[in-house]
Amino acid sequence: MVRLRSMIFLLSISLSPLIGLSQICESGIGYCDSVNVISSKILIKGGTVVNADRQEVADVYVDDGVIVDVRPNIKVADGVRVVDATGKFVMPGGIDPHTHLAMEFMGTETIDNFFSGQAAALAGGTTMHIDFVIPVKGSLSKGYEAYVEKAKLSCMDYGFHMAITKWDDTVAKEMEIMVKEKGINSFKFFMAYKGSLMISDELLLEGLKKCKSLGALAMVHAENGDAVFEGQKRMIELGITGPEGHALSRPPVLEGEATARAIRLAAFVNAPLYIVHVMSIDAMEEIARAQKAGQNVIGEPVVSGLVLDDSVLWDPDFVTAAKFVMSPPIRALGHGKALQAALSTGILKLVGTDHCTFNSTQKSFGIDDFRKIPNGVNGLEERMHLVWDTMVESGQLSATDFVRVTSTECAKLFNIYPRKGAIRAGSDADIIIFNPNSTFHISANSHHSKSDTNVYDGRSGKGKVEVTIAGGKIVWENEELNVVPGSGKYISMPPFNYLYHGIDKADENYLTSLKAPVNRFNPSI
Ligand code: URP
Ligand code: ZN
Ligand code: ZN
Repeated sequence: MVRLRSMIFLLSISLSPLIGLSQICESGIGYCDSVNVISSKILIKGGTVVNADRQEVADVYVDDGVIVDVRPNIKVADGVRVVDATGKFVMPGGIDPHTHLAMEFMGTETIDNFFSGQAAALAGGTTMHIDFVIPVKGSLSKGYEAYVEKAKLSCMDYGFHMAITKWDDTVAKEMEIMVKEKGINSFKFFMAYKGSLMISDELLLEGLKKCKSLGALAMVHAENGDAVFEGQKRMIELGITGPEGHALSRPPVLEGEATARAIRLAAFVNAPLYIVHVMSIDAMEEIARAQKAGQNVIGEPVVSGLVLDDSVLWDPDFVTAAKFVMSPPIRALGHGKALQAALSTGILKLVGTDHCTFNSTQKSFGIDDFRKIPNGVNGLEERMHLVWDTMVESGQLSATDFVRVTSTECAKLFNIYPRKGAIRAGSDADIIIFNPNSTFHISANSHHSKSDTNVYDGRSGKGKVEVTIAGGKIVWENEELNVVPGSGKYISMPPFNYLYHGIDKADENYLTSLKAPVNRFNPSI
């Protein structure tokens, strides 16, 4: 309740984004240590600093939004806020590669906007996310402008991917503008959602070629949309209209097929490929096979796919079942375990959420027909805790691996490392203090999302984000948020990430391997 009180107050100042932290403290709500408020200098003392490649006991000194020093026994002047992290982990804030805030989708709009979604993220230790810009009637520039407006509420750093929903010369030209002028280095192609976002193989090929020429990363939602459409008709004909029909209409084989198709098309043009929300063994095995053959394919599992199973879709209560409807669907028991194993062996590289929240009223649009249930689940606030509890506490990942899959790999793939995804001098001061001996509890009554439901409601586990520092400010401490709408920064992401290294050589080798054209003797000359 204290947290909610704080949120309500903060929402009430959302029209005054320049109101500073000192004014928040004068109100008596939130953190009121005057040193913290006026000082941009923070010393995190005595914790175990964990990066993706090593961990060490060290202090971390932050000034003016940036990490200035990381080493043992840093001495500082008076007036610096000192935070004791003895016995705790000091890690880079999480980066969520896959969110949908304020997204218009399936006739409605996600309940979390750039303020509530990000506030939730910060309370759970995520300090940056990358959201998907949806074009307006196919126009990338109009879509971009709309998202710039939506993102004005931001209270933490964010970047954009962009969806491609149609193809013509204007779209191709606008992709270039997005990469060269707007800081977008990734484009998503939906192979599903027939009649709205779905694209053809022809468009996917054009898109892959264009991404490659720009050094951008092509991402796919891999499900066979035509077959899903057929599966949906079949379920309705069978009289299966409830949420279980969603899972039954789009089985793993359709995800596996589309994943394989996208991988083969990407191989055909030698372009790197990123598969979003890998939900099934079928898709994961296609990725593993391609990687074994030397192809640059990245697989992103999402928290829901790692920790939930589809039994919930058979719940007799519609609202309970409908809250789990997302695409590709949450799969039968066994898929999640296999995805966890693939994450631990490195087949799957980084964990997202696909945070795309609809409340129970919105989910009820599909009370008579599962095809009308808005697709999407929450996860921004829960991701770090659930990944730690599921993967680290079970011994499947180390603490350094945890940092890699929740932060560093994302920063590297989207070309913002080491500004993000690292605790080192010069990096942005996006930091969490994580107590491995504490406990987290998830509840729809106390979470920071605006949704009235939570797909992880009632879960508890080991480990707790006790402090979140974003942009050099303590924004989460003692279970309280201190966040200011408008304080988040847009992070421009340059093209040509590490997957592009050496790609020109591979192209050269391909051309040589053709042994063509053959110079033939032409008797008519
Ligand atoms: O159900 C989902 N995944 N909703 C968000 C849109 C998408 O496909 O990523
Ligand atoms: Zn998708
Ligand atoms: Zn998504």
